[in-house]
Amino acid sequence: MSVWKVSGGNKLYGDLRIQGSKNAVLPIMAAAIIAGCETELINCPRLSDVEAAMSILRHLGCKAEREGDTIFIDSREMNRTDIPHDLMREMRSSVIFLGAILARAHEAKLSYPGGCELGPRPIDLHLEALKCLGAEITEQGGDLYCRDGGLKGARINLSFPSVGATENAMLAACGAEGETVITNAAREPEIVDLQEFLRSLGADISGAGTPTITVSGFSPRKRVGYRVMTDRIVSATALCCAACAGGSITLKSVVPADFETVTSALESMGCEIERRKNSVKITVNRQLRAPRPITTRPYPGFPTDAQPLLMAACLKAEGTTVFTENIFENRYRHAAEFCRLGADINVVGRVAVVTGVSELTGAPVSATDLRGGAALIAAALGATGETTVYDTGHIARGYEDFDKMLMSLGADIKYENERLASVV
Ligand code: UD1
Repeated sequence: MSVWKVSGGNKLYGDLRIQGSKNAVLPIMAAAIIAGCETELINCPRLSDVEAAMSILRHLGCKAEREGDTIFIDSREMNRTDIPHDLMREMRSSVIFLGAILARAHEAKLSYPGGCELGPRPIDLHLEALKCLGAEITEQGGDLYCRDGGLKGARINLSFPSVGATENAMLAACGAEGETVITNAAREPEIVDLQEFLRSLGADISGAGTPTITVSGFSPRKRVGYRVMTDRIVSATALCCAACAGGSITLKSVVPADFETVTSALESMGCEIERRKNSVKITVNRQLRAPRPITTRPYPGFPTDAQPLLMAACLKAEGTTVFTENIFENRYRHAAEFCRLGADINVVGRVAVVTGVSELTGAPVSATDLRGGAALIAAALGATGETTVYDTGHIARGYEDFDKMLMSLGADIKYENERLASVV
């Protein structure tokens, strides 16, 4: 159990260098096994999910070592094709290794990833995509057995632009003979980053960032170096923290377009925004007002991952904000925790209505999931008194040294990572 103690009231000031992207580095680490080569990945955040992906790589017989923010992967000696249950459980997105293992070895055995704190997280679209390429998949006692007698390029039409299913299809297609065309593909920036990595690995792939991705061939390289993109959700988190606490911060070395929906929502609330080519500055020195309704959608729509964070920024904004969550069924668990701080939120199904209150007051709360946990810390920065956030490790899955990042801006926050058997 980790405990975050936040004393609200300090405004945030300063510059931030944002960490590498969790959601980009995980599929890229899986992709590193496809070619059986040596890979050097730069800008890898120190996160428990990234450590879990390294454990999977080592289990598969690959070398995976970290030096600072660089991870070296040597997949030449990969000698296993299974991922055991405990490793699958450690990181739910480990299903992303399925397409990569098939591309490399043409057989795989994984335990079925369970549900998660965001509601059921099925993998039917991942499996359908792999079946289109010729994989035979059977389920037995909670395990998935996959094999193919040589993957064949095909047309894969996703019924929903799932990020994970798009990535799995891209990875498996690299091991297929002939051309694969993925339609209704997810368009997230992390998909583009995966495409760029696959290109440097030797894939002939194009179209990422549009709904149609084409994989035409693969000539594996022996050595690859790649720099992982900056985390757009951490960027959005920092902006929302500033909106909650007030002050003025600048995000450096970012791609502003990647999180523009969040930036423009904050701007419409009264935050002053200065966009440059590779930086965004936010200044908050007035009472904020509620933004227009916020509806989460696949990219380029408003990201579901930023919904709890923007909600934190709306808790004290004048007026009423209507959120509609379209991506995950169970993504309002943070709302009940916000209410412990004095927020006024009404949740009915996919809709949450937030009515701004004049003050939030510190209280003990629990991190319900990764982004919900970060959002509680953001809200606590703007609350009166001390908030204690109890967290079973959610926040460290996605934020590297979150406490240090906020302290560098002037926040009063203490992080204790210890076993508190009596709590929760
Ligand atoms: C990824 C991100 C996550 C983000 C999400 C949506 C990673 C590691 N995680 O998750 O942070 O919140 O995209 O932007 O990149 N679905 C199905 N069947 C499937 C697959 C998905 O029904 O086979 C549904 C899911 O239950 C969910 C929706 O599709 O309701 C979106 O899921 P998806 O885009 O696949 O998200 P992830 O890849 O799991």
